[in-house]
Amino acid sequence: MTAVPLDLSGVGKDFTTSGRRRGVLAGVDLSVAAGEVVALLGPSGCGKSTLLRLAGGLEKPTTGEVRVNGTEVTGIDSRCAVVFQEPRLLPWRTLERNVAFGLPRGTTGRQGRAEVAHWLDVVGLADFAKHRPRQVSGGMAQRAALARALARRPGVLLLDEPFAALDALTRLRMQDLLVEVQREAGTTVLLVTHDVDEALHLADRVVLLGATEPGGPAGIRLTLDVPGERPRDRGDAGLAAHKVSLLSELGVHPVRELEGTTRI
Ligand SMILES: Nc1ncnc2c1ncn2[C@@H]1O[C@H](COP(=O)(O)OP(=O)(O)O)[C@@H](O)[C@H]1O
Ligand SMILES: [Mg+2]
Repeated sequence: MTAVPLDLSGVGKDFTTSGRRRGVLAGVDLSVAAGEVVALLGPSGCGKSTLLRLAGGLEKPTTGEVRVNGTEVTGIDSRCAVVFQEPRLLPWRTLERNVAFGLPRGTTGRQGRAEVAHWLDVVGLADFAKHRPRQVSGGMAQRAALARALARRPGVLLLDEPFAALDALTRLRMQDLLVEVQREAGTTVLLVTHDVDEALHLADRVVLLGATEPGGPAGIRLTLDVPGERPRDRGDAGLAAHKVSLLSELGVHPVRELEGTTRI
């Protein structure tokens, strides 16, 4: 698996519902370097999932273009793998069969079995290979979904609030697992989240998405280079200051400018 860069330039997306056209995203320029982890943070409904779907070729941009490793994304792209908020496993298949679905076409049986066993092991499910989704917890099912995405050996891993449906403790464990997995897989990651702590814990860079004018389409409002190497200390005082800053941008605390943020 080789990490590749992801570039969005001038990306906008309009949706037409009941004859009315509405701009959801406009003028998004975002470059994620090979092997970089970028968290896309923003309030519910601001267009985070839409941006992720555009990045993975599940949706076509109205304006601008998306490039993976320098070549334009024109449809569902095998260089990207997506993990959604819910695991979306096939209920009648065992976890190992579900993970095998992620394997790239042309993978031979023996090599495929080794790959599946490897990724099940990485996500801590080696002993549950023969279980079916309903026989395991929500966190385990989501780990299987992550293993399925990794089995594809994606250059870019796209994660859409992958831990949002999990209980708080499982979510923290999954975040730590993602740090390990990213190190092991070395893939580029675009992680959508509305959780400021999650963004600061996992990302090299946090990109805040939101309306740049009231009622208008969303764009990048702010980017923040997160200091320190991963794995990070959750109690880090420097991160706490950035948390206040990001929360205030999200309207949770009074606005306070802090070093390290770049207003766009
Ligand atoms: N296929 C679609 N058709 C029409 N509107 C859509 C479609 N997908 C998303 N939207 C709208 O775009 C906006 C952003 O949605 P979404 O990207 O899911 O936000 P987020 O993931 O940040 O919560 C919402 O107002 C949503 O209703
Ligand atoms: Mg969403």
